[in-house]
Amino acid sequence: MIKVVRVASQEEGGQEALAILKEKLAAGAQTLGLATGSSPLGFYEAVRASDLDFSHLTSVNLDEYVGLAADNPQSYRYFMEENLFQAKPFKANYLPNGEAADLDAELARYQEILEAHPVDLQILGIGRNGHIGFNEPGTSFDQITQVVDLQPSTIEANARFFDKIEDVPTKAISMGISDIMKAKTIVLFAYGADKADAIAGAVNGPVTEELPASILQNHPEVYIFADDAALSKLEA
Ligand code: GLP
Repeated sequence: MIKVVRVASQEEGGQEALAILKEKLAAGAQTLGLATGSSPLGFYEAVRASDLDFSHLTSVNLDEYVGLAADNPQSYRYFMEENLFQAKPFKANYLPNGEAADLDAELARYQEILEAHPVDLQILGIGRNGHIGFNEPGTSFDQITQVVDLQPSTIEANARFFDKIEDVPTKAISMGISDIMKAKTIVLFAYGADKADAIAGAVNGPVTEELPASILQNHPEVYIFADDAALSKLEA
C-alpha cells in the first residue's frame, strides 16, 4: 500500500522520513537500503543533523556506475561518503563495485550481501521514466542484481552532474526490482514537475513493467514524500 504525503520542501520530506527511520530503529531495524541522486539529499541532511548513532547498522546501496572508481566524485560511493557515511559511521557500508574486473562475480557477490542483510528501510528516488535504482522501463519485476544499459533519457538526466554528456557511464550495476520489493518498508522521495508523470503512473496507473515504480502498489508499506509539482498529475 502506498501512502502519499505532500510536503512543502525537501527539508520537510527529510524530517518526515527521519521520523519513520527513528520508529524503525526503535523497532530493531538493522539494515538501511540507500539511494543516491538529488531526491534523498534532504533526508541525508536531516540524518546528519540528528543525534542518531549508526555504528551498529549496515547499509546496502541500490546501484553504482560501471567504470567509475570509488574516489571519482561522480561515483555513488563518493556521493554516499560525502553525504552520509563520513558524518554517520556505520558498522558496514556496501555498494556494488563498479570497477570490478569480473562483473558476473561482482553481481554474485552483491546478491550474497543482499541475502545476508535483509533491508528494513529502503530509501528511493524515482527516474523521470519511472525507474527505481537503475531498473529502466521494461525490466522484469523478477529481476535480481544485474548490469544495466542506461537509457538515453537517464544518461541525459544524469549528465548535469558531469562535465560533459560523453563522461556519463553507459552502464551501471543495480539491485533488481525483486530485491527492492523485499525491503520491509520503502520511502520514496520525488520533487519537481519532472517527476509528475512518473509519480502519477506509479500511484494511479496500472502495475506494469513499463513503469518500474508501479510495482510499489503491491508492496505492504510504502511512503512517498513529494512536493506539489511532483504530485501535480496525481488524481485527487
Ligand atoms: C538516478 C539514480 C536513481 C535516482 C534517479 C533520480 O538514475 N540511479 O536511484 O532515483 O537518478 O535522481 P534525482 O533524485 O537526482 O532526480
